Amino acid sequence: MSETKRFNPKKHAILLETSREAKWHPRALLRQVGVQPGQVVVDLGCGPGFWTFPLADLVTPTGAVWALDISREMLDALVARHPPAQVHTMCIELPRIPLPAASADLVWAAFVVHEVDPLDDLMREIQRVLKVGGRVAVLDWRPDAVHDDGPPRAHRLDAGVIRSGLQGVGLTLLASPWQHEDAYLIMAQKSE
Ligand SMILES: C[S@@+](CC[C@H](N)C(=O)[O-])C[C@H]1O[C@@H](n2cnc3c(N)ncnc32)[C@H](O)[C@@H]1O
Repeated sequence: MSETKRFNPKKHAILLETSREAKWHPRALLRQVGVQPGQVVVDLGCGPGFWTFPLADLVTPTGAVWALDISREMLDALVARHPPAQVHTMCIELPRIPLPAASADLVWAAFVVHEVDPLDDLMREIQRVLKVGGRVAVLDWRPDAVHDDGPPRAHRLDAGVIRSGLQGVGLTLLASPWQHEDAYLIMAQKSE
């Protein structure tokens, strides 16, 4: 089922269009999320790296970004953009996250969670890879978005489903630092 919802990798150039910069303001948004120098960040479903590059800038010089995607084509497009040394790509299939337990300060999941099944397994993996005190940020399309860009509305998940999934694996919901008419940002922390 998830394959039918998956973003077509042949269209990867769309994910780097300047209209996306204007819509999401990636650097400003990631700063609001609290990305800091030295952090280890996992970029789930990184695509061609729209978020990976600003993440890498913000964690430099000592941090790292693990850029994970199921699509070799997406990862090739990312690598062709010459990411800095702190970016490590991995071709993997979510919900499995093949990184050690308690290894990440932040799991960043932008516009990918609605494409992955089963959701509960993904939540468990996010909880597992987070350090105590680490946070997850899920940015995804609102089913009631004002504008018509984005995936079919039937593929989108209610924010309540994400919140329940995060709480269901023991993560503590945080107040969201950002609101948008077309997307939600849901954040949670691993407190123990
Ligand atoms: C809509 S794109 C978003 C890409 C990027 N996060 C962005 O916002 O520019 C979704 C990405 O998730 C990846 N993806 C979908 N299902 C996946 C899975 N099960 N495992 C790993 N990656 C997946 C797709 O290949 C695609 O690159």
